[in-house]
Amino acid sequence: MTILYRKVIQMTTHLKIGRLDADELAKKLTTPLYVYDARRVEENYLTINSAIFYEPKQIHYAIMCNNRLQILKVLLNLGADIQVNSVKEYRLVKSIGSSNAKISVTTTNISTDDLSFYAENQAQINFDSIEEISCYGQLIKQSSTVINHTIGIRISVPMEITDQSATNQPHPTKARVGINSKQFDLVKEAAKKYNLKINGIHGYIASNLIDLVPFIKLGSYLVECAKKFPDLEYINFGTGFGIDFDWLAYGQMVTPLMRSISTFFGRPIHLKIEPGRSLVGDAGILLTRVTNIKDMGNWTQVGVDAGFGVFARPYIYGWQKGQGGYHPVVVANKIDQPPKGLYTICGNSTLQGDFIAEDRLLPEIEIGDLIAILNAGAYGAVMLSGFPGMRRAGEVLIYDDTIEVISETER
Ligand SMILES: Cc1ncc(COP(=O)(O)O)c(C=O)c1O
Repeated sequence: MTILYRKVIQMTTHLKIGRLDADELAKKLTTPLYVYDARRVEENYLTINSAIFYEPKQIHYAIMCNNRLQILKVLLNLGADIQVNSVKEYRLVKSIGSSNAKISVTTTNISTDDLSFYAENQAQINFDSIEEISCYGQLIKQSSTVINHTIGIRISVPMEITDQSATNQPHPTKARVGINSKQFDLVKEAAKKYNLKINGIHGYIASNLIDLVPFIKLGSYLVECAKKFPDLEYINFGTGFGIDFDWLAYGQMVTPLMRSISTFFGRPIHLKIEPGRSLVGDAGILLTRVTNIKDMGNWTQVGVDAGFGVFARPYIYGWQKGQGGYHPVVVANKIDQPPKGLYTICGNSTLQGDFIAEDRLLPEIEIGDLIAILNAGAYGAVMLSGFPGMRRAGEVLIYDDTIEVISETER
């Protein structure tokens, strides 16, 4: 259900989201509550778009990190393209009027049924294996309606990730995603057999990266690989860009690479990326109330009304500084108060590992205070499991002083 409220509140002691007071919002809509700031999403998109000054380019928003239609619309209005993982996501994006030219399908282990769906819908897929390509080839051979005979391939990128905060990194000995460069001849053979044109290549390393170096290595690697595909129209450099990524440096790095490959082919090659977290991560805040304070002897546990089933990132990726699931937290109703002590924020489940933030220096915390978990816009609400037996968090989108309710907090 969507309800629109309009209110402007002037308070300086409380965290503001858009032009609204976070504590007022949490009181009105109850917690746990995900709040997304539409303006921040816009700023993030415009920052990326202007920093990458190479043209032609496409910024495909990876909707897996936050697939709420309200967020999608903000990005589509700015001209963003979309990356999807599944037929379900593809249908969702199509349902709000996106065209195939704007949608990139990048995933693995696609079923024959789904391949058939993509083929009939003329979708552009970055294929993860020769087997998938052959299956797709057979499907379109039997079809009289499929007209798209172009395919992209997802390339396996040989790179060791040392960054402790990386998420979704490859298995150290069984990297399972992508096609190895040693198989390029076989890929070409399979494509030729079914009259398919390999018009794009794709590479991805890991997520939540801040250091530019892996992206430089990936960029050079993909450009070298690209030269082996004469029908090339695009290089998709994937994603993995963390919050606060240095987009200006990225733009400076990737532009000459793209110019060199365009010169090589004698035509403009499209640059594509698939950012998720860097577009919406810092636009989202999870508001959660303090329900208990427990003296643990040498540390203080602050219990809140959100935990693993509402926000899983800290549990999955590690909540400590430098780990992938580290999130800054603030006391939203005491934003102007000085730090008083070290607090450890924990969820309200029976899970022993239900930690959200450990030993954070914060103002004095009391029951009823409002904790704001920052950078929760990506891989937050979409990973809501409700386990074990937790209430669903609500979600709202703020546009300056306007609140659009995406879903209400379960009561
Ligand atoms: C192929 C692909 N594209 C896009 C994304 C989105 O990643 P991020 O949120 O790091 O930008 C992922 C994340 O797993 C991915 O695997």
